[in-house]
Amino acid sequence: MRLAIIGYGGMGAYHAIHLQKYAETCKEYPIEIAGIYDIDPARAEAARAAGLLAYASAEEIWADKSVGAVLLAVPNDCHAPYAFAAAEAGKNIICEKPVALSSAEAEKMYAAAERAGVLFEVHQNRRWDDDFLTVRKIAESGIIGSVYKIESRVTGGNGIPGGWRKKKAQGGGMLLDWGVHLLDQMLQMVEGPVESLYCEFSHIYGEEVDDGCDVSVHFENGMNYRVVVSTDCFRSLPRWQVYGTEGTATISDWDLSGGVTRILTKDGAKQGIKAGNGYTRTMAPREGDSMQEFPLPVVHAEPFAFYKNFAAACAGAEKPAVQKAEVLRVFRLMEAAQRSAAENIVVKEKL
Ligand SMILES: NC(=O)c1ccc[n+]([C@@H]2O[C@H](COP(=O)([O-])OP(=O)(O)OC[C@H]3O[C@@H](n4cnc5c(N)ncnc54)[C@H](O)[C@@H]3O)[C@@H](O)[C@H]2O)c1
Repeated sequence: MRLAIIGYGGMGAYHAIHLQKYAETCKEYPIEIAGIYDIDPARAEAARAAGLLAYASAEEIWADKSVGAVLLAVPNDCHAPYAFAAAEAGKNIICEKPVALSSAEAEKMYAAAERAGVLFEVHQNRRWDDDFLTVRKIAESGIIGSVYKIESRVTGGNGIPGGWRKKKAQGGGMLLDWGVHLLDQMLQMVEGPVESLYCEFSHIYGEEVDDGCDVSVHFENGMNYRVVVSTDCFRSLPRWQVYGTEGTATISDWDLSGGVTRILTKDGAKQGIKAGNGYTRTMAPREGDSMQEFPLPVVHAEPFAFYKNFAAACAGAEKPAVQKAEVLRVFRLMEAAQRSAAENIVVKEKL
């Protein structure tokens, strides 16, 4: 399969490098980069310098019969127009996240692809993050008992990067940028419907879009799940904190540092301590022999799993890993979060 990348910015260039590595390792479902198109001549020049063909226009890609697929790595408001044109030209499509600016727009994109008989898959790549897969294994294994609460955080200190991510009309803001990943991971991990949701946005930097979000989700099965995205945090909190009835697990960062603590007896602290200006037994450290420490049961994803699945799905050999219903459900959750934040309410809906 020959694939053209539209948008050769940060993510487009990342895809170019990783697709080339994928091509070196996977002979079963190969993908070759046909070239790129970027509206910015400087980015076209950068692509040429990296040894890639730079198409002069998207129309050139539509007309190139050797191109079977396109990858849309343009700002979020450009996803839909390119998806419609690519579908009409009969190209299979990888679309960057967030798929669109609204769930209604996303539905139209899927409908256009279905009409044209092409594959449309959204790049929800963080389903293959090792930290996420490790948390899922911890939850499924029962090593910390029954998991009842998960906190999933990304905490950066660089504000909102770039120009278009600060613009509402271009689909900017951190809920759409990072929230979409963390909520997608949540729905891959927790079974059953969402019962209610509450969201607060932060506007520390005074931009027209959120520079962070804090979404609390309650599931019908009793699970509480919290998604936090922050761009104004200069001392990081753990990437993951997982609470079970018999222990707690922490993944501190993408380097997979952290660990698992499993309790052996319910009665942990025999002695109280002076804490601040008072006494506590409740919050005193547990006795060492009342718990066990384990390393994280690290799971490594199959390298390039998304590209391989896309190419295999185009060949009819696999089902696309990222399904339309899943993408639309995440979008409906984000829209419920936007409503919650705008009206300062708990949205009580089955989602
Ligand atoms: N899945 C991930 O891990 C991940 C990570 C980063 C970004 N993304 C997504 O990738 C997309 C691009 O993000 P980015 O960080 O690369 O942004 P970017 O600003 O670095 O790059 C966007 C590129 O698109 C070009 N462009 C803008 N309008 C265009 C048009 N109409 N036609 C052709 N080219 C155009 C720009 O010149 C720029 O080079 C976004 O949808 C973003 O959410 C995904």
